[in-house]
Amino acid sequence: MCGIVGYIGPKDCSDVLVSALTKLEYRGYDSAGIAVFENDAIKTVKTQGKLKDLEDKLKSVGKPQGHVGIGHTRWATHGEPSDINSHPHSGARVTIVHNGIIENYIELKEFLISKGREFLSETDTEVVAQLLDYKYNGNPLETIDSVMAELKGSFALGIMFKDFPDRVFAVRRESPLIVGVAEGECFIASDVPAILKYTKNYYLLEHDEIATLTKDGVNFVDEHLDPIEKELKTADWDMEAAEKSGYPHFMIKEINEQPDAIRTTIMPRIKEGLPCLEECGITLEKIKNFKNITIVACGTAMHAGMVGKYVIEDLARVPVNVDIASEFRYRNPIINEGDLVIIISQSGETADSLAAMRLAKQKGAKTLAIVNAKGSSIAREADMLIYTLAGPEIAVASTKAYITQLSVMYLFAFELALAKETLSEPECKRLVSALIKMPEAVSFVIKNCEEKCKYIATKLITSESLLYIGRGLDYALSMEGSLKLKEVSYIHSESYAAGELKHGTISLIDNEMPVISVATQTDIIPKTISNIVEVKSRGAKIILVCTDVCARGLKDGVADYVIEIPHTDELLMPITAVVPLQMLAYYTAINKGNDPDKPRNLAKSVTVE
Ligand code: F6R
Repeated sequence: MCGIVGYIGPKDCSDVLVSALTKLEYRGYDSAGIAVFENDAIKTVKTQGKLKDLEDKLKSVGKPQGHVGIGHTRWATHGEPSDINSHPHSGARVTIVHNGIIENYIELKEFLISKGREFLSETDTEVVAQLLDYKYNGNPLETIDSVMAELKGSFALGIMFKDFPDRVFAVRRESPLIVGVAEGECFIASDVPAILKYTKNYYLLEHDEIATLTKDGVNFVDEHLDPIEKELKTADWDMEAAEKSGYPHFMIKEINEQPDAIRTTIMPRIKEGLPCLEECGITLEKIKNFKNITIVACGTAMHAGMVGKYVIEDLARVPVNVDIASEFRYRNPIINEGDLVIIISQSGETADSLAAMRLAKQKGAKTLAIVNAKGSSIAREADMLIYTLAGPEIAVASTKAYITQLSVMYLFAFELALAKETLSEPECKRLVSALIKMPEAVSFVIKNCEEKCKYIATKLITSESLLYIGRGLDYALSMEGSLKLKEVSYIHSESYAAGELKHGTISLIDNEMPVISVATQTDIIPKTISNIVEVKSRGAKIILVCTDVCARGLKDGVADYVIEIPHTDELLMPITAVVPLQMLAYYTAINKGNDPDKPRNLAKSVTVE
């Protein structure tokens, strides 16, 4: 997704902008550019490619010299990646960077063309730049306000007016934007890591608020142009957390951070051995009457919801539907007043998840958000909120956010089961104490399985396709394993409920096909093993992820490779079993020479449909 930065202050603006953009690379991008006031003229340098390409271009054409500017990493939506479609975009007296999608850009473009305007690029962003220029009346705030009234869709904009070389303006609707402040300098950015090198203090821009940045500070107005006071926030994580700390990639760093991420997420929510979610607005009284639950999310977050379904249904006996947000929002879902809709999202800005939550609210449901990014849109709009305290997740492939989403799902399921009186307090205490031990179990798996995963990954690189199979919770987990592998290794894979294989998919099996089987649930292990035997006898190479207990009972030759993980409470097994799946994906990507932190075509935060 596009990333925006802006700076005003005593430092070399071009350097600050490029350095801040490097901290937004995780969002995914295909082009980059900056625009800086140089002697009261706006100088723009932009290029298709990576920030390295931009730096090369800045060297060859000359870096703009100045102290006020904006920058951008583009993830193409309207118009292919190209120099001309890269941001910043300009009208005669205005230059902008944009994240989001202007839905009515075609009609606005037609209008502007009818007024004699000409366009250089295919982007929706240039339409906004031209519209600002067309409407410019000498007053930037009035101009921005009147353009905003005409825009449909989502946007975060950094704006510079040629007549105001000492200012940067910023505005947002739907797409995220923050304003950082330090002594004698101000910043704008799509996300906090971009400014952490310079300051930890920032404001969250709300919908339709406009910020005016000068070197002396920032002022905010609302959509009526009335001044507003905003609360200054302080980032509670530092550059160190947003950097790789010696790991070769963020993905493996974040896999290693999982024990701490789980601990940080669960420990403050446990009191006297029982879950305590009061701080998140959740009490037994408040949740005891929910009769139907729908979990809505995308991708990995949706897979965490799949595990949540098994656990909630098992413990609290409340029916749970899991839905993909982009499907949910367009199919008139059956949600009744008094239902609970849980939205899971790392970024808290995923456009489909946000829209699904709003729809659920319109239909009278209570909403509970499980979100990692503090102050994000989903976090702010939900009725109840549990933060996953995973810290910043930079790698595009989600790992530590997923594991903390699982941890929160468990805590919530325990609390709901207590409220529904389907779980006794002693039994709940037993589960909570098993959950408290999971960080240690995850550390053990990381330490003891990494070498094996590394080795097995060398065997996967020539495969064109893989199957992941499992039953029950193991099936829910297989979905995540399969997604992880696809996104970073670019090897096709599917996850299947093991019992479904013989209804069609088994015809794919030949001796080229590796099958990764997850078997952690004792009562159904014999069934999964018989599925393994079926595929093995058709030539498949079997990689079995199972508990040490299960491994001890295995007959010789059932699996080609066995990854053993310690047996814990079986309901909680997905927390440990996901780790080898993440590492298999990571090392397969490495062996193929892929960058696992920035897989092709993917963006970290999907703020457009
Ligand atoms: C995969 C991955 C994505 C996200 C999905 C939802 O590793 O990260 O599938 O899970 O795009 O994003 P959030 O959680 O930010 O709503």
